[in-house]
Amino acid sequence: MNTTFERDLESKGFIDTPIDPTIDIVTEIQRLKKEKNAVILAHYYQEPEIQDIADYIGDSLGLSQQAALTDADVIVFAGVHFMAETAKILSPSKKVLLPDLKAGCSLSDSCPPHLFAKFKKQYPDHLVITYVNCTAELKALSDIVCTSSNAVQIVQSLPSNQKIIFGPDKNLGEYVKKKTGRDMVLWNGACMVHEIFSQDKIIDLRKQFPDAKFIAHPECEDHILNQADYIGSTSGMLKYTIENSAQQFIVATESGILHQMQKASPMKTFIPAPPNNTCACNDCPHMKLNTLEKLYNCLYFELPEVTLTEGIVERARQPIERMLEISARFGL
Ligand code: 13P
Ligand code: SF4
Repeated sequence: MNTTFERDLESKGFIDTPIDPTIDIVTEIQRLKKEKNAVILAHYYQEPEIQDIADYIGDSLGLSQQAALTDADVIVFAGVHFMAETAKILSPSKKVLLPDLKAGCSLSDSCPPHLFAKFKKQYPDHLVITYVNCTAELKALSDIVCTSSNAVQIVQSLPSNQKIIFGPDKNLGEYVKKKTGRDMVLWNGACMVHEIFSQDKIIDLRKQFPDAKFIAHPECEDHILNQADYIGSTSGMLKYTIENSAQQFIVATESGILHQMQKASPMKTFIPAPPNNTCACNDCPHMKLNTLEKLYNCLYFELPEVTLTEGIVERARQPIERMLEISARFGL
C-alpha cells in the first residue's frame, strides 16, 4: 500500500485529494464527463446537488435499465455499492465508479451470502427471488432479482404452485405476499431508514394535515403501509405526487426524493414522515456518503472502481436479466 490514493481508498473509501478552490466543480464535472465519455447515474436518495448534475436520476429498476443500455465508457454511479455492482454486472466491459466505496446498505448487510446459502438449502424445491438491495454474491445465488417497482409482477408471473423464497427485505416480502396472495418463505432482513417511521407521529401529522395524502415505500413496516393512500417505489411515489390532485403529501421514504417531488410540483407541499426519535433518520447514511467533491475526484482519478470476478458477473447476470425481461413484458 504505497500511494496516497491507495491509502485513501483503503482507509476512507474515497479519494481525499484536496480540490483546487478556484475551480467550479459543476462545470469541471461536465467537462470531465464529455472528455471521458462518462455518464452519471444517480438514485433519488442522493443529495440534491448530485441529482441536479446527473444524466439520469431514477429508482433501482430505471437505473439498472440505464446501466444496461448506456454506450458510455465510464459509469459514475451516484448511489450505493449494490447499485454500482448491478451496473457492472450488466455492463462488465465498462468502468464503473462509485464516489465512496463505503456507501453500503443496511438491508444488503442484513443478508450475508454464506448464511443465505444455508437458508436456501433448507428449501431445495423453492425458487429464489432476491430484492436488488443485496450483494452481487447474493444475486449469484438467486433465480430472479426484483426491485420495488416490479416485485409484485415478478411473483405474479410465476406458476401459482411455484414455491418461493424471498429475501432480503421482510417488509417488501410481506407486502408482496399480501398483494399476490402467495405464500413465500421470507428472509428476516430490513432497511434501517424505512423501519424508523413512527406510526403515532404519522397519525398526529395526518390530523394536522387532513387533506394530505400519505405515501409510503414498501420497505416500510406493515403498520405504516396499512395507513398509506399509495405504496410504491421511489419513481412510483414521484409519479403519484405529480398525477394526484392533492396539494400536500406526507412521504415515508428516504428524504432525498423530496427534491424531485418539489421540482416537479413546486406549488405542492411535501412533508417527510416523522421518525420515532429526533434524529434525521430518514436520511440514508450510506446514500449520503456521496458528495459532489467525492464525485469530482472519482471522475478525475477514475477511482474508486467497482470490480467483480468473472464468475460472479456470469452467475449474477442471469437473474437480473430475467428481471429485466419480465419487467419489459409488463411494460415497466
Ligand atoms: P427504489 O428506488 O427502487 O424504490 O429503492 C429504494 C431503495 O431503498 C434504494 O436503496
Ligand atoms: Fe439501503 Fe435503506 Fe439506504 Fe436504501 S435507504 S440504500 S435500502 S439502507
